[in-house]
Amino acid sequence: MNRFLFPRWTNKFLALLGLLLLGGGGYAGTMFLGVTDPVTLNPGFVPEQPIPFSHKIHAGQLKLDCRYCHTNVDKGAASTIPATATCINCHSPIDKSGAPALASVHPASTKLKALHESWETGRSVPWVKIHRLPDFVFFNHSAHVNRGVSCVVCHGRIDTMDKVVQSRELSMAWCIECHSNPDPNLRPVEFITKLDWQPQGDPAEVGAQIRAEKNIHPKTNCAVCHR
Ligand code: HEC
Ligand code: HEC
Ligand code: HEC
Ligand code: HEC
Ligand code: HEC
Repeated sequence: MNRFLFPRWTNKFLALLGLLLLGGGGYAGTMFLGVTDPVTLNPGFVPEQPIPFSHKIHAGQLKLDCRYCHTNVDKGAASTIPATATCINCHSPIDKSGAPALASVHPASTKLKALHESWETGRSVPWVKIHRLPDFVFFNHSAHVNRGVSCVVCHGRIDTMDKVVQSRELSMAWCIECHSNPDPNLRPVEFITKLDWQPQGDPAEVGAQIRAEKNIHPKTNCAVCHR
């Protein structure tokens, strides 16, 4: 009957174990309540911009392709905000002699004052960023856009907005939900910037076919987004 008994001094470790459990719960709680960034999870966020730029006019009425301005969206991680020169293609200011340049729309508009100042000084327009993930998350636009995930899935109908509104909660659950089942959100790559495109038939079936053809398999392991 030689029963093994833990020596009495190990009781101290029980207390430590208790502390660790408590601490762990606290840690998880802080992550859940505290670390979740309100700006990240902020559908409906509409900051005041230095120029009242309207996507409804430029992308909707004038039908400029998103990539005319967001040139990097299918090439790299970030979708760039256009430089002042891109706007000046159409909105050059009145020149020194007082004559408007050839291709100039509303050359004297007060709404374009900050644009023309930026053009004269060479300082970029201080656009306010709307969609923002925390720094510990890795995201890549081209990885999505070139696999047939349209802007509209993540940003809504930007082409109908006078002011850009964040339409989706950029939460981890949202990312993983689509990574687990991307089919209903896939379309042929040539239509990624055509926000009113609708599939012929059941979106899930159309997507499943695209996924099989292009061998699309989004991953859900932690290291894909936290590297
Ligand atoms: C004529 C240039 C131009 C075109 C075309 C254009 N955009 Fe933009 N976009 C801008 C500018 C300038 C901003 C920054 C000001 C703002 O937020 O309105 C911006 C901001 C955005 C933002 C918010 C960025 C942030 O800070 O989070 C999104 C999303 C966006 N555009 C999507 C689109 C989509 C989708 C299309 C095509 C349907 C498109 N844009 C077409 C110029 C353009
Ligand atoms: C391809 C040409 C083109 C480009 C590029 C372009 N715009 Fe425009 N923009 C227009 C046209 C055309 C209108 C006028 C629409 C109307 O009045 O119906 C307009 C109107 C505007 C207005 C409203 C002006 C007013 O007084 O009503 C603002 C502000 C504006 N654009 C800002 C910008 C900014 C900022 C950029 C760059 C990010 C830009 N535009 C790029 C063609 C362009
Ligand atoms: C899978 C979802 C998804 C798709 C598809 C997508 N975006 Fe985004 N977009 C985001 C997220 C998330 C951010 C915030 C990125 C960050 O903070 O690092 C963002 C940010 C932006 C920004 C701000 C600049 C930047 O890169 O942070 C612009 C402009 C933009 N998107 C335009 C577009 C356009 C145009 C398209 C389609 C051609 C598009 N996006 C497709 C999710 C998406
Ligand atoms: C609507 C669907 C959808 C949403 C929402 C979405 N993704 Fe994806 N993601 C995809 C698809 C499709 C791929 C491409 C998989 C492939 O190429 O096999 C992908 C690929 C990726 C990749 C891999 C890039 C590489 O280097 O291979 C990363 C990282 C990623 N997504 C991060 C995110 C993050 C972070 C979010 C949320 C902010 C997000 N995704 C939201 C569909 C989505
Ligand atoms: C497809 C992309 C993606 C994958 C895969 C992913 N995450 Fe995240 N994660 C995110 C995004 C986006 C956020 C920030 C949004 C937020 O605050 O909810 C985030 C936030 C977090 C946070 C901060 C706490 C919080 O709730 O904000 C922790 C911790 C975390 N992730 C752990 C993990 C672990 C562990 C895994 C693997 C089981 C994982 N993530 C897989 C995209 C991803």
